[in-house]
Amino acid sequence: MINVALPKGRLGDSVYALFDKLGYSCPEMTENTRKLVFTNEEKGVSYVLVKPSDVAVYVERGAADIGVVGKDVILETEPDVYELYDLGFGKCALAVASRNDWVDDTRLPLRVATKYPHVAQKYYASINRDIEIIKLNGSIELAPILDLSDVIVDIVETGKTLKENNMGVFTRIAESSARLIANKSSYQFKKAEIENLISGVEALI
Ligand code: PRP
Repeated sequence: MINVALPKGRLGDSVYALFDKLGYSCPEMTENTRKLVFTNEEKGVSYVLVKPSDVAVYVERGAADIGVVGKDVILETEPDVYELYDLGFGKCALAVASRNDWVDDTRLPLRVATKYPHVAQKYYASINRDIEIIKLNGSIELAPILDLSDVIVDIVETGKTLKENNMGVFTRIAESSARLIANKSSYQFKKAEIENLISGVEALI
């Protein structure tokens, strides 16, 4: 049995569609249900649907053998897991952005609003810039608009949110896409099954 942690939402739906094509199906998953665990004994697979930022926690602690998570989350949480495969979808960038009319005053510490405090700290430490982190959980773009922060560190996918709020990207810190990750001991014990699944994914992508 392979236990898979999938992120709720569009990314999880795409990954399930992929695994379904490979024969790891669980028809209950596509029904409108509040169930949290979906098992197909015959196919030897079990899925859990969790918040995208929680996938790596389940996999790191062995509650799931494998999972799919954005590289942005991996960079933020640095989980102790194997990052096995870049699925190539869910592409976005972790970037510094602000209002188009913002001018940096390098004499002052920079106020950075973000859902990614670790990524932001690491990036600004690498360029020796003093910052103050303002941790938010959503609608990050509002922060510079209301002068809560000077800049944001956030993911940019299409760029539509920034554009519609007269904002732009100043620096791209890292590129992100969906990654297949595995628990380290599961990878040893279920190597054949996991590698078989990866070869299937590779062939399909
Ligand atoms: C994310 C991110 C940006 C937006 C970027 O927010 O925080 O706000 O998507 O996408 P775009 O470049 O295609 O416009 P999300 O939709 O996850 O919601 P949130 O604001 O609640 O974090």
